[in-house]
Amino acid sequence: MGSAPSPHPSSPTFSVPSSILIIGSGVFGLSTALALTRRDAFAQSAITIVDRSDSSQPGAFPAPDAASVDSSRIIRADYADPAYTALCNEAQVEWRKQDNPTDLGAQGRYHESGLLLVGDAVPPAPVAAPAEGGLKPKMTGMDYARGSWANVQFLASNDSSSPAARISELPNPDAIRDALGTGGSSGSWGYINANSGWANAGAAMAWYLDKVRQTGRVEFVAGTVASLEHSDTTVTGAKLSDGRVLSADLVVVAAGAWTGGLVDLAGQAVATGQVLGYLDITETEQEALSAMPVILNLSTGLFVIPPVDRVLKVARHAYGYINPTRPTHPPLPLHPHSASPSHPADPVSLPLTHLTTPSLQIPADGAADLRRALSEMIPWPSLANRPFSKTRLCWYSDTANADFLIDYHPHWQNLFVATGDSGHAFKFLPVIGDKITDCIARACPPQFRGKWDWRVREKTPAGLGMAVVTEDGSRGGTPGLVLAEELAKAGEVVPATE
Ligand SMILES: Cc1cc2nc3c(=O)[nH]c(=O)nc-3n(C[C@H](O)[C@H](O)[C@H](O)COP(=O)(O)OP(=O)(O)OC[C@H]3O[C@@H](n4cnc5c(N)ncnc54)[C@H](O)[C@@H]3O)c2cc1C
Ligand SMILES: *[C@@H]1O[C@H](CO)[C@@H](O)[C@H](O)[C@H]1NC(C)=O
Ligand SMILES: *[C@@H]1O[C@H](CO)[C@@H](O)[C@H](O)[C@H]1NC(C)=O
Repeated sequence: MGSAPSPHPSSPTFSVPSSILIIGSGVFGLSTALALTRRDAFAQSAITIVDRSDSSQPGAFPAPDAASVDSSRIIRADYADPAYTALCNEAQVEWRKQDNPTDLGAQGRYHESGLLLVGDAVPPAPVAAPAEGGLKPKMTGMDYARGSWANVQFLASNDSSSPAARISELPNPDAIRDALGTGGSSGSWGYINANSGWANAGAAMAWYLDKVRQTGRVEFVAGTVASLEHSDTTVTGAKLSDGRVLSADLVVVAAGAWTGGLVDLAGQAVATGQVLGYLDITETEQEALSAMPVILNLSTGLFVIPPVDRVLKVARHAYGYINPTRPTHPPLPLHPHSASPSHPADPVSLPLTHLTTPSLQIPADGAADLRRALSEMIPWPSLANRPFSKTRLCWYSDTANADFLIDYHPHWQNLFVATGDSGHAFKFLPVIGDKITDCIARACPPQFRGKWDWRVREKTPAGLGMAVVTEDGSRGGTPGLVLAEELAKAGEVVPATE
């Protein structure tokens, strides 16, 4: 590798690629494409985006089962880590633009409804499978809530656009009930931040897609990447399942939870499935909920987002389910010289969605938890037994500490990964592409250096490919649940088809 003519990936030198292939058009891929078109340095680079496409919706960017597509996503600067608080503050400047219909936040794309964050003082149960390298003391939901409270107050103390007066502590269940305004309550301590809200994710992605298309600089290809193309130690492009080959000087893999099927991410990130439920409500019910804030219980990860178009959404931000799958094509191995095409690929967790498996259901434990959240947060008898009109499994690319994975590959040249979203990247849509582009240009923002890097991995014992558990204090549930096993358990049967 040392004698390779082009710069080694870990060297700080950067030369502008003449062609860039981005795999995936979710938050990470699409925002990177737009940022690249806005940089003088990349004015001569040909930019291509490829995304999975099925015959029912050919050429959908992103694919309808991408994590980036949904009715709503929380937009909150409420993080226990000040670097993400500051990054969201930057993003919110864009989300809050809504004076003109063409502004990002206009036409219902952003709602500053407020966010009610609640937590529990009792630490959650210890983790079953220790993460690699031993376990740091685990941050609890309460630690997370208190840390994020301190961060948003600090932020607001200096910033006239998010004044501190709009952040109030809620020291007990009665105060939480008053702030929620539905008659329900949840958690034992919390705070409300009127500077946070939610976005219509699908509509915001469509707005971005339009922006990218308007540049005329990006070629969109509908197709599924089957494997990465490479020479000795250099990635040269991607081969599609229909046999087409897309070649490029730089390949950026931003395939969300699917990334582990293309690049060996053992010890880096794991795909986890999360449950969502949607409930049809009446106009009167929607009216009654029109002033409610988003509520997120950090002890359990359960949350409810205010309704739109007479649909109420409840979801769980949890450890999630893993789905061990043996990929048809083995992912690109960690080391160029460890490729062994005859050896069957180790199982990796890969998404299972309603798009590829129309009969998919959500597991009973997930459905029961969504019910529990509803009955606690909106305790109306009329909603108690109303069936979900729709449910969904949505997939995160989870890292051990919920930091993103945005870096050059340590061993393959001309390969960059932008993933590890850990279930919280949507809010950064207006700013993350610019940061990813900085990292591509080897000028990663200092506050994220070390955080977004490829994790140093001494040795991942065989079979531990999926042993990544996210411990940032924001997750509820039990780590390591296997989707197929949970689906096999009895309980309320809830179709996950849309
Ligand atoms: C239930 C749920 C709730 C969430 N709530 C919030 C929230 O409240 N706030 C927040 O900020 N974030 C939230 N998130 C997280 C946020 O949605 C994600 O972090 C973000 O959308 C990830 O974007 P991505 O580009 O990495 O992945 P994706 O959006 O999944 O995009 C990946 C794309 O790659 C494509 N692709 C994959 N494999 C291939 C292939 N082989 N060939 C071609 N294309 C391929 C896929 O089709 C897809 O379009 C939530 C996520 C979920 C699932
Ligand atoms: C707030 O302003 C002071 C003085 O201008 C500055 O020193 C401090 O770093 C600022 N804090 C934040 C969070 O911007
Ligand atoms: C919310 O958190 C409390 C702990 O503070 C917990 O006891 C309760 O079960 C949680 N409720 C939901 C719906 O998540």
